[in-house]
Amino acid sequence: MKRSISFSVNGDTVQVEVHPHWNLLRVLREELELTGAKQGCGEGECGACTVLVNGLPINSCIYPIMEVEGKDVLTIEGLASRDGALHPVQEAFLEKAGVQCGFCTPGMIMSAKALLDANPDPDEEEIRQALAGNMCRCTGYIQIIESVKHAAALLSSIEQEA
Ligand code: FES
Ligand code: FES
Repeated sequence: MKRSISFSVNGDTVQVEVHPHWNLLRVLREELELTGAKQGCGEGECGACTVLVNGLPINSCIYPIMEVEGKDVLTIEGLASRDGALHPVQEAFLEKAGVQCGFCTPGMIMSAKALLDANPDPDEEEIRQALAGNMCRCTGYIQIIESVKHAAALLSSIEQEA
């Protein structure tokens, strides 16, 4: 039997009828039509489905939907401004070629955002650790690491201007 749950997605409160055994990724993609988070392995191993719940990165493919009640979910769709301007982390991935096929990119960017929110000036080892759960079959990771370093620099310069 379906149950009604309420939570916030990208700043908007949503109410959804769900089966209790569903996971968050299914609800985001199929009920809310937010298809940025990707279904890769479906087993918590690849990070393609990464979104933030209360600011922390989680694998939404294995995150039980009933645990989302009352929480704040941020997906890749919520990063750009309402006027369409990209978030600095998105901008950095474009500028440093951290994107090839793009399948891993939403998850990579959400993990990178969580890292930079907690640690605005990470060293390379800290970046690698933060992205350890996100697999990329295209880039070889070098450009992704460079993208996160560049994102930190962009965010820092924005902060100094403010
Ligand atoms: S699809 Fe969720 S970790 Fe791979
Ligand atoms: S850019 Fe293709 S999987 Fe990462």
